[in-house]
Formats: sequence, C-alpha cells, structure tokens
Amino acid sequence: MAKTINSKFKMNDGREIPVIGFGTWKADGDTAAMSACEAIKAGYRLLDCASLYRNEAGVGEGIARGIKEAGIKREDLFITSKVWNRMRGYEKTKAAFEKSLTALGLDYMDLYLIHWPAVKKQFENWEEINLDTWRAMTELCKEGKILSIGVANFKEHHLKALMETEIKPAVDQIEFHPGYTQMETVKFCQENGIIVEGWSPLGSGAVLADERLAAIAAKYGKSVAQICLRFAIQNDIVPLPKSVTPSRIVSNLEVFDFELKDEDVAAMAAMPLFGWSGYNSDEVDF
Ligand SMILES: NC(=O)c1ccc[n+]([C@@H]2O[C@H](COP(=O)([O-])OP(=O)(O)OC[C@H]3O[C@@H](n4cnc5c(N)ncnc54)[C@H](OP(=O)(O)O)[C@@H]3O)[C@@H](O)[C@H]2O)c1
Repeated sequence: MAKTINSKFKMNDGREIPVIGFGTWKADGDTAAMSACEAIKAGYRLLDCASLYRNEAGVGEGIARGIKEAGIKREDLFITSKVWNRMRGYEKTKAAFEKSLTALGLDYMDLYLIHWPAVKKQFENWEEINLDTWRAMTELCKEGKILSIGVANFKEHHLKALMETEIKPAVDQIEFHPGYTQMETVKFCQENGIIVEGWSPLGSGAVLADERLAAIAAKYGKSVAQICLRFAIQNDIVPLPKSVTPSRIVSNLEVFDFELKDEDVAAMAAMPLFGWSGYNSDEVDF
C-alpha cells in the first residue's frame, strides 16, 4: 500500500515509528523551538534531537507549543534523543538520559540512541563500553522511561555485539543520501529487523545543487530535496530532514504524492561518492 504522511514502520520491539521525521541539529534556542513547533503543526510526528545539539530545552519548548497549537497529544509524538560519546558507559548513560529527559520537559522518551559506537581505534574494550551503555538503556526501557532503544552510526561489526542482548536495537540511524548510501549497513539492518533512519538526507544541503539530481527532480515536477527524501522512503529508510525555514519544513513533507521510478531510484543509489560528511565511525576522533 502506498505510504502516507501518517504511515509507520513496525519495529522489532512491536512498537511503531513514523516513516519520516524532523531533524534539529544546528538549530539553536529560540530557532529550535520555532522550528520544532512549525514541524509539528506541519504534520511531523517524529522529532530527532541529541544532547550534543545543546538545544534540547528549545526543542522541548517547541514540542510543548506544537502539541497545543496542533491540538494533539504527547502520545501522538515520537521523540528521540541520544547519549553523547563521553557519556557512554553504565552510570554515565543513566545520568545523561535523565538530563536529556528533563531538558526536553518530557516524562518518557520514545527512542534513545547511542550516538556513536565506541570503536577499536579508540578503546581496547570498545565492545564492553557499548554493552555497558546498552545495559543502562535496557534497564531504562524496562522501567518504562524509554519506549524503544537503538543506535546510530553503527556498522555491521559494531551491531553484532548487541544482537545477542536481551533487547535488540530497534533502530540504526546512519548518514544516507544520494552520493553516500552505506548500502551494506542498510542491507544488514533490514535483513535483521532493524529500522534504518537516514541522517543528513539532503547531505546537510550539499547535494541540493547537483545537476543530475535536478534532472531527475524535473521529471516529477519536484525539488531535489523532495526526491532525496522520497529516495530514502522508497528504500524503507526513515529520512530526518532538518530545516529552520517554515516553507521548507512544509515542502519536505510533500513527498507522498509521487513515486520515483525504479530506474531513478537505481540511478540515485549508484551515484559516486559526494556530499559525504566525512565521518567514518571507525575513524572519528570525537
Ligand atoms: N546521528 C548522527 O550522528 C547525526 C548526524 C547528523 C545529523 N543527524 C540528524 O539528522 C538531521 C538531518 O541532518 P542535517 O541537519 O545534517 O541535514 P539535512 O537535513 O540533510 O539538510 C539540512 C540543510 O538543508 C537545508 N534545507 C532543508 N530543506 C531544504 C529545502 N527543501 N530546500 C533547500 N534547502 C533545504 C537546511 O537549511 P535551513 O535549515 O536553513 O532551511 C539545512 O541547511 C539532523 O538535524 C539530526 O537530527 C544525526
């Protein structure tokens, strides 16, 4: 059945996640509040934030306003935050989670993610660090403070260590856009029942001026941003476009009234590397 703005994917823990979400990175304070509120009014139900973004209070304010102005309930929303790298580990993760929950003004989180995996290059005991972080998140999940738990920027070899745990990751949030699709990780996740979310679905803006994409977009009478978001959706990936511009917040949701042909999806998937953030989780130094 064709997807709509209200469609959801079923996660491996039985819960549901919207097929598109809203990003909040690099939106500060009042702008974060304004954009989160506009997003909710436009129809986004999934909002993605992180303690790293230092804007959880602003996003939280936008959520509270959005709920009121859109006439919806807290339960209609799907709010995500993430534990930052220096807060990984059992005790620190629990403290970081409480801080995020308070900053957002919430009494539960829909989805909480490990922002980046601890990796071999930085830590001899990287697997143990990830498992300790995961154990804290599992306990918070059992207490009902988090409804679903997942990871971000994990590749297959990072994920494998978490696949035998009591609760498996429900989501892996990775960079995904034409020019950088990480299809091996997408395939591993989708074959193992893990929902993939796509961060920087517009390459943080870097893919928007591409002429090859403009030519495909023109065929559908759509913008490059819209076909990039549709590209993710047709790969069963949840795109998380960010914008602080009200007209773009709205137009980025207008992606359910057309369908990319298989040949165009294939052409977008086959584009050589471009628009990549440069972040490889095995190599990052943060
Ligand atoms: N897990 C991770 O490690 C990780 C890493 C990066 C990002 N993320 C998440 O993914 C979200 C999205 O990624 P992102 O923020 O890097 O970038 P993005 O969504 O790929 O692109 C955002 C940029 O594109 C512009 N833009 C948005 N819609 C547009 C449109 N229709 N036409 C023209 N320009 C448009 C925005 O400008 P304006 O805002 O000025 O409109 C902004 O500069 C983040 O906000 C965050 O929630 C997660």
